[in-house]
Amino acid sequence: MYQLKNSRRGKLSLNTLFIVLFCAILALGSPGTVFSGEISGATAVPDHITLTWASDPSTTQSIAWRTDINMAGGQVQYAEAGETGSWPRETEIHTTGGAGLVTPLGDMNIHAVMLTGLKPGTRYLYRVGGEEGWSAVHTFTTAPRNIERFKFLVFGDSQSTSYALWRATLHGAYGANANAAFFTNVGDLVDQGQDYNQWNGWFNAAEGVIDNIPAMPITGNHEYYTAERGRTAWPVFFTTQFKLPQNGPAELKGQVYSFDYGNVHFVMLDSQAGEGAVFVPDMLEKQKAWLEDDLQNTRQPWKIVFMHRSPYNNRLNRDNGHIRAAFVPILERYNVQLVFTGHDHVYARTYPLRGDAPAVKGSGTVYVISGRSGTKTYPDNVARNWDEFFYDPTDEPNYLTVEVQGDSLTVNSVKLSGGLIESWSLCNKPAGE
Ligand SMILES: [Fe+2]
Repeated sequence: MYQLKNSRRGKLSLNTLFIVLFCAILALGSPGTVFSGEISGATAVPDHITLTWASDPSTTQSIAWRTDINMAGGQVQYAEAGETGSWPRETEIHTTGGAGLVTPLGDMNIHAVMLTGLKPGTRYLYRVGGEEGWSAVHTFTTAPRNIERFKFLVFGDSQSTSYALWRATLHGAYGANANAAFFTNVGDLVDQGQDYNQWNGWFNAAEGVIDNIPAMPITGNHEYYTAERGRTAWPVFFTTQFKLPQNGPAELKGQVYSFDYGNVHFVMLDSQAGEGAVFVPDMLEKQKAWLEDDLQNTRQPWKIVFMHRSPYNNRLNRDNGHIRAAFVPILERYNVQLVFTGHDHVYARTYPLRGDAPAVKGSGTVYVISGRSGTKTYPDNVARNWDEFFYDPTDEPNYLTVEVQGDSLTVNSVKLSGGLIESWSLCNKPAGE
């Protein structure tokens, strides 16, 4: 059983440099800027280097990167940071060729390697590439075996007309939270997920963060959209580039998955039945059966679920009743404490709910719509009677920090410029304590 502690409003300390950067971005790239795509195709030298976990965060590290189509293979060189002696100590050779993508920027290969047998709680140096060219040296850190306290970052929809604001939000969040273990996106990372121009802007903006801490994102409806208005496709650009756990239901592997970090079981769902059912007709039914089994088998005290469309939404003429009907009974049956969502580009937190109503004290599921980390806002978001807190971030983007320490979990919703929208906590104590 857990309890909601008092929320508070306040101000975090302002980062002067960051505000200057933010003002410059507002001046140069105000909403309405036409996204033209950044003209940079892949070369022999790796870029778009992306860390994820496809397996145990304490002993493995997945790394993906992009090259031109001529680079059939590649290598990862790595060593423990601070080790004396020659660099690198280990080389993981990948010679099977990358996944070829045909894009408006030219054909390219997406390469991926999963390092295994790593030491828990250890910082490593690494670089990717080969004789034709190496990336700069980056770092990653494996999860400790016993984690007393950790933090992760959550970003609302980053889909944009220009990815400068996403760059500022991501880098600002990471700069203020360099101890974050990883970050997540709640879907709609880009405006048209089957148009590589969009990913080019997104990955270029993420450089410097996504090569240092893992990204564990989910799909939104826009990951299914092509450059041709009104057309959808299966989100293969997403699953090709993000090497995520393959423990989801058949046909949804890599976009529906779960993993553990510390004392939290994370479950990532795909709520895009409207876009995806034409390809996998029973995608919600498949997820319901998998979710039931997945939650039944975890022994982690915290259970946190991510999905793009919220069962309890805020846009005036939206109602995600089909998502509510599909997932809420299962989330309640297994006492999921917290659900992060997106889609409405608003920051809103419900009361702990059970049966569509505020739960008795010490129970219920809190649903958080995470805000926005890109340029897009909506004029018709409204507070609902299930909301305990509501803020429409039309002034500037925001991000969330989530810190877990034992039976305590604290969420801060923070503006790009550093202002604190709200801070609130959950306490997950066994009944009777
Ligand atoms: Fe969306």
